Formats: sequence, structure tokens, C-alpha cells
Amino acid sequence: MTDSVLEGTAPPRGLTHVEPCASLTSENNDTWWRRAVIYQVYVRSFADGNGDGIGDLAGVRAHLPYLEELGVDAIWFTPWYVSPLADGGYDVADYRAIDPTFGSLEEAERLISEARALGIRTIVDIVPNHVSDQHPWFRAALASGPGSPERARFWFHPGRGASGDEMPNGWVSNFSGPTWTRTRNPDGTPGEWYLHLFSAQQPDLNWSHPEVRAEHEAILKFWLDRGVAGVRIDSAALLVKDPALPEVPPEPGPGQHPNTDRDELHEIYRRWRAVADSYPDSRILVGEIWLPDIERFAKYLRPDELHTAFNFDFLARPWDAASLKASIDSTLVAHAPVGAPATWVLSNHDVTRPVTRYGQADSAFAFATKRAGTPTDLALGRRRARAAALLCAALPGSLYIYQGEELGLDEVQDLPVHQLQDPMYLRSGGEDPGRDGCRVPLPWAGTCRPFGFSPTGATGEPWLQQPDRWAALTVEAQENDPNSMLALYGAMLRIRRSDPDLGDGGLRWLPSAADVLAFARGDGFLCITNFSGAPIGLPPGCSVLSTAEAKAPGAIHPALIDACGVRRIGPDVTITSAPRTAASASRAIVTSIPWRLWTPAAKAATRPGSGSYARIVARPGRTARSASTWNVPCTPQARIASTDDSGRARCRADTADAAAVRTPVIQVASITAMGTPVAGSLRMRRPVM
Ligand code: NOJ
Ligand code: CA
Repeated sequence: MTDSVLEGTAPPRGLTHVEPCASLTSENNDTWWRRAVIYQVYVRSFADGNGDGIGDLAGVRAHLPYLEELGVDAIWFTPWYVSPLADGGYDVADYRAIDPTFGSLEEAERLISEARALGIRTIVDIVPNHVSDQHPWFRAALASGPGSPERARFWFHPGRGASGDEMPNGWVSNFSGPTWTRTRNPDGTPGEWYLHLFSAQQPDLNWSHPEVRAEHEAILKFWLDRGVAGVRIDSAALLVKDPALPEVPPEPGPGQHPNTDRDELHEIYRRWRAVADSYPDSRILVGEIWLPDIERFAKYLRPDELHTAFNFDFLARPWDAASLKASIDSTLVAHAPVGAPATWVLSNHDVTRPVTRYGQADSAFAFATKRAGTPTDLALGRRRARAAALLCAALPGSLYIYQGEELGLDEVQDLPVHQLQDPMYLRSGGEDPGRDGCRVPLPWAGTCRPFGFSPTGATGEPWLQQPDRWAALTVEAQENDPNSMLALYGAMLRIRRSDPDLGDGGLRWLPSAADVLAFARGDGFLCITNFSGAPIGLPPGCSVLSTAEAKAPGAIHPALIDACGVRRIGPDVTITSAPRTAASASRAIVTSIPWRLWTPAAKAATRPGSGSYARIVARPGRTARSASTWNVPCTPQARIASTDDSGRARCRADTADAAAVRTPVIQVASITAMGTPVAGSLRMRRPVM
């Protein structure tokens, strides 16, 4: 066998032990958000209830049991408000009404309470930086003319130059192009310019105006009164601008950027926090904050400001052990002093789907360098995405899952051009591929489009065309496949939910090789991620619930370790399994993705016979209830066995001796499952490779 991952390897690199500041994390009954699993629903693409090809609230309501079964604690809805959809709903015309395409306010209220009855909280998206150009305030501002109180709520400004035809400054839009659009006066002559950090249909609000502040506090209360558990704050670091509108310096110092991360923002969020805290149970504020300066980032998470913020630094990192470890370390170090839990996010409606990203030679993410058309190895990307999911689930803090991530959907990079509508694509003249490719409607069932996204007899096609290859990725196709991404997410979330050492807390790095990340949570939970191309051995006493795909070769596969102690390994294997709650049990998550796919060369580089599989089935009636998941280094040559809840086990036998795979080599002298001793034996069956 290969050496244990924890033996004879390099000393730990960097930080070894991070615990949050105890005084700031004293537990109360309402700290659900510190360890929550939050599922992002992009309503337009989740499920279509009325058959017009666009997702809606009826579709979400119909699929709430799916989310309950998946095991999520909360749903974050991207904007569902009345909107012309110039930016997928982030151009809000009415913050207190649901867009009729999606449903009605009454239906949203029903959805919130139906979800709550299933134990799922609701988080809504608040968009404070800008409104739609169809918002009554902006229409009034255009109609009222220069110098009017209506215009004071926005950033109207005369142009530069003798005739005012130069923009007030040279700020560049987050969607490329200028941040200023010129208006026309009622008599048709060119008028003032207005500021928009995003598209021209999203005019920026002036947050030094008291009515802007009061209105958003009222919107916050409006939704909290409807029972939502929190809000996600869009573009949270952009609201405040330097009123002098200076150019952006080449390297702005802390707090010196004229439109990002200005110090005055903190006072706004303190007021919001006071509003949230005035409600009886924990209502949370989650910031969308893209900031390279992690210390500035953490300032938003002080105890009287936001509860959490998305960790984009981790999301943007390439699939590389050292880089991800550095991000984990700096994240935890920055969060500890303010007592906020970290968040772990692999994807959302703005970024390239991880299966695609991780399948590329450069697997980092940056808006500026999105690489549509780059050669992509989806099989490799999918295996890395599986490993990344398990890694994230084991890290301290809360976890976000973007719809379709649990299905392993890839970025759709060949959408019909006439369907593309993201302003990132349109405003860049197609240079930026845009974000439509990660927003394609979910495949639920069936073998052809719309894959159950719309009901039978639908009148409209899905608003973005699903690829045929998604027939293999529907919920229906995955739910009965123990090797599917969906099964992996389900198993992962079940363990995460039931294990007190997971979620909030600290971690302890364990010594490991340079291309392996290994850390402990609590006394017995290990997470091991193998980034190398070779198998790694496990520490003694671990038990693994393997999630390997049947033919994924060459390494220890993505795997979860259940509460089961292997007491002695040998030809006469003695196993004592324990209830999941047993403090002494060894548990771990093990993930592994080789750098390259299984090729003859890779095979030659590993031991002969590596990658053989055999199915092991417990003798009927001998496996007690659902607890008997075990990892048996079943012979000196064989490693990793797992059972599913019905007691079936899978063993990957690393032996050159094919006969050994076919021979009943495993004897289990005694098994204690869920605390009940039973005697049984296991026998090998049917090698599958
Ligand atoms: C961030 C949102 O996630 C994105 O989708 C949107 O385009 C911008 N903010 C502007 O609202
Ligand atoms: Ca619909």
C-alpha cells in the first residue's frame, strides 16, 4: 500500500490551527446561519410551473420537497421583483412586488411559509446600489429636469467640455464600457449625464440622500415582516461614491477607491443590522463583496454589521492545493477576530460553472479572463468539482450551493446567439462570453428537452436552450445512481448536517504531502483532499463512505468517512462500527482528483492491478439498519470499501492478483452497527473491472 497520507510526509505548511474568537461566538439558540447550507435559486431557470418556458414560483413550490430531500437549510432567491430584466432581475422596478412572470406577492408569501414548514428558510436579494431605469424614482428624475429634488436621489451631472458632451469622469462599467449615459432635455437637446456602474438600465442611487437610506430600510422591513430569514445584499461594497467623482487612481489605498469599499458604507450596514436585530429570531445580512483586500473585507463582518459575506477569493482560486490552502488560511485568519463564520462558495449565477472551470488548464476564475472556447475536459472537471464540493462541505462555516451545481451541470458555451441576453456579453460586443451559460434551465427528468423543466403541454421553449448532453444529468437520471453528483451532494449534506464537528468552528491542519490537503475538525473528523495523480493511503482507523464513480481509476476517489472504527486490519478483519454520534469514531471526508485522467501512462505509473473493483455484499439479515458504512483495507492489498444504507459495500481492490478479487477474501468476525452487536461475514462478488 502507499504510505498513509499522514505519515512520513512534509511538515504542515502555513497555519496549523484556527479557532474563532470565543468571546464573539458564544452560542445562542439562533446561530443557524453560522453553519447553514444555503441553496441559490435563480428563479427563471429553476422550474417552470405554468409552461411558458420561464421558471416561476409555482415551479419552485412544486420542487420544495426536492430541496428538503437534498438537505438544505435555506434558499436564497435571486431577485424576483418586477423588472424589465435588463440584467436578469438586478434592475428592479418595484422592490415590493413579484414580477408577474414569476407569480405574485401572495404566492411568494405562501412559498416562504411552505418552505419554512419543511425546515427551509428564505433569503431574498436586495439591490441597493441601483434601480431599474423603469423605477418610478428614475422616471420622475428624468421628467423633472436638472437641479430637481427627484434627480438628487441619483448621480446626475453635467458633462465636461464646452458643450458638456464629455462624460463627467472616465470610470469604467463592471459590464465594460462607460458608466455614464447622457439624458435628453424635454426640448430634445442633450442634457445631463447619469451614473451607472453596471448597464445604462441600472442608474446608481445616491446613498448620501436620506430618502434613499430610508427607502431601503423600509424595503428591508417589508421582507423581514414577510418572514424571510435574511437578505443577500447585491454589490454591497459599491453603494457609496466620492462626491467629487475623481478618477480611479492606479493603485488606490485602503478606502481610497472613489466608488468601491468606502468607509461610509459601514454606518449604513450598522443601521441595517439594527433593523435585522430588532426581529425576534436571527435574521441575517449576507454581503456580496468582491474585494481583494481580505482585511477590508472582514471589516464588513464586525459583530454590528453584516453576518456573513461570500468568499470569492476561494471561488476564484485554481484547482491547486497550495493556492486553495492559502485561501483557506487567509479566510479563517481574517474572519477569526470579528467572530464571523467563513462562507464557501464554488459557483453562482455570475461565474463559470465549476465542472467547466476545473476542466481547463487554467482553472482560476476572473471576469476579465473568462475563456469561452478554451479546451475543456469535462470528465476531469467533474471529478475535481466533486472533490471541491467535499472540501467545501468540510470547511468551517456556511456553505452555498448554486442550483445545478448538485447535478454537476457544465457551462453551456454554445447557446444560440439570438438567445444571449446578458449585458456582460452585449455591452462587450461579444468579447466577454457573458453569464447566460451558467443560467440555463435545470434538467429535471426525461430524455429530451425541456427535460421536465416545463410541464407537459408547455406553450414555450425554455428561455435558454438546454444541451442534449444534459439528458444524462437530469435529477431523475441521477437520483437512483449512487455514483452521481446528486448522490454525492445528498450524502455529503446528510453527514454535514448530522455531524456536530462540521459547520461552524475551527480546523486543525495535519501534516501532508504538498499535493494533499488534510485537516481535522473536532476530535475525529478528517478531511483529506488528494490533488495528486497517485493514490494515497489512509490513516489507520478511518472508515470511508466512498463516492467513487465505478470506473474512476488511479486514486482514492471522492469519499466520505462515516462513523465507523476499523479496529484491526488483516485477513480476518474485525470491524467495530459505531453510531455516528460516537465520540471515539474516526470520521473523515476523503477526496481525490488526479491531475490527469486515467490513461495507460497513468495506469503504468501506479501499482499493477490498481483500480480493480469488487462488489461486497453483506450477508442478508446481518447488517443492522443504516449505520454500517465501513472502509475496510480488506486485505493487505485492498482498500476502500463502503456500504450504502442497504448494507451493500463496494471495495476497490488494489491487487495484482485478479483471483483475489473474485475470491471471498473478506471475513468480518463481528460488526456492531448502531450499537447492536451482530455477527456476519462478507463475501466478494462480481468484479466489475
Ligand atoms: C451582482 C449580481 O450577482 C450580478 O448578477 C449583477 O449583474 C450585478 N451585481 C449588478 O446588480
Ligand atoms: Ca413559467
